[in-house]
Amino acid sequence: MTPQLIHYATRNLPRYTSYPTAPHFTDDIGDETYSDWLAALPAEARTSVYLHVPFCQAMCHYCGCHTKAVRRPEPVAEYARTLREEILLAATRLGGRRTMVHMHWGGGTPSLLDPADFQSLAGLVYEHFDVAPGAEHAIELDPRTVTKALVASLAKAGVNRASLGVQDFNPKVQEAIGRIQSYRLVVNVVEELTRAGIAAINMDLMYGLPHQTAKEVERTADLTAALAPARIALFGYAHVPWMKSHQRLIDAAALPGAVERIDQAEAASARLAAHGYVPVGIDHFARPDDPLAIAAGNGTLRRNFQGYTTDPADALIGFGASSIGKLPQGYVQNAPDFGGWRRAIEAGKSPIVRGKRIDREDIARAEIIERLMCDFAVDPEAVFTRHGLPAEKLTEAYEALKPLISDGIAVQDGAGVSVPDDRRIFVRLVASAFDAYLERGAARHSVAV
Ligand SMILES: C[S@@+](CC[C@H](N)C(=O)[O-])C[C@H]1O[C@@H](n2cnc3c(N)ncnc32)[C@H](O)[C@@H]1O
Ligand code: SF4
Repeated sequence: MTPQLIHYATRNLPRYTSYPTAPHFTDDIGDETYSDWLAALPAEARTSVYLHVPFCQAMCHYCGCHTKAVRRPEPVAEYARTLREEILLAATRLGGRRTMVHMHWGGGTPSLLDPADFQSLAGLVYEHFDVAPGAEHAIELDPRTVTKALVASLAKAGVNRASLGVQDFNPKVQEAIGRIQSYRLVVNVVEELTRAGIAAINMDLMYGLPHQTAKEVERTADLTAALAPARIALFGYAHVPWMKSHQRLIDAAALPGAVERIDQAEAASARLAAHGYVPVGIDHFARPDDPLAIAAGNGTLRRNFQGYTTDPADALIGFGASSIGKLPQGYVQNAPDFGGWRRAIEAGKSPIVRGKRIDREDIARAEIIERLMCDFAVDPEAVFTRHGLPAEKLTEAYEALKPLISDGIAVQDGAGVSVPDDRRIFVRLVASAFDAYLERGAARHSVAV
């Protein structure tokens, strides 16, 4: 690894789960604009629904998600009641049913919802959306909070994909990250889900955590592969204590350095490949027969706020505090604080506090960045031409690419830009060359690898 590559690996860059990225949303988008956008959503639009549950039983020290710890069930029950109101409000504004191709419960820990509340919220969504044949209904679960009653309720509500937070099986690492979770516990949850017919399982692993070594990350990868989940995500720990103050509980001195992080990512990837998993994008692996692996192979892989997906939706409607939605006109984000979110809904308004109207150039740049993040190759000029934009607008991007090309991270072949196979972990740098909003050199994001 050359010093220049190490320098690239430590650059702070967005993860490009959207473009423009969330820090560029502004507060001129609110309830009124969102109402208009919902009402204008064509009847035939394929819609995706996201429900955010921002509660956990305790905070894991590393967590970068929008969530908080709750000890009692009451705040979660109250949250479920407000979610109900929010769904009803959006349904009124949509003014008619839409087809739902994808439903996703994220968090936080949606498995903290009372099984009856889960059932009734899912039922309410079904009352207002027509479920497309083959639609995916997915949920993120903390294995430590999964009960038999919850699994029964998930199966009854039609959940067909579950994602489990695993991170690392090493007790020393688990202690350092404040998340103790035995292998046996994970095995039991997998068995329970499979018995209930929820056989499409994803597991989240992490590298770059305190006290992790390449050997130990490999061991976790082996143990995980032995459970044969359909998908495995391997996330690099984003240490951003200036944004997430509880991450100060992580001993920064025990964190692996840039070279070690790359070694860990590569070691785990090699183990997963040896177990027959196909790499998908920068941080996912899937069994070859899984729809995500198939999409990665045929150019239909997508990237959205939940990461890599096969979700083909034209619109994403988000519910819950901090949720982000996307309509053909642009992005919207709900109030991140529980109080602000609830007050708006109680006043009969959508809790939108920020957003971003997108124009033709934003859409074209988003497509270039998405194809790079998914396929590691794109023809930027062809994308601009298809959107009726002059190729000259890409001059600055090609300038920004030059040093990446000379350092072997990007390759330019005619108008086409690609990332060599052994440099894929650096793709965020290549994508950032097409980001017209990026304040180059700004340290607002996590490191690139
Ligand atoms: C919402 S959680 C998954 C569900 C459940 N809350 C759990 O933890 O079991 C989403 C995933 O994001 C990843 N994650 C959380 N904080 C992160 C961070 N700071 N850097 C990278 N990945 C992170 C973890 O792998 C975690 O499993
Ligand atoms: S990793 Fe999951 S369980 Fe842990 S605090 Fe974050 S959202 Fe909650």
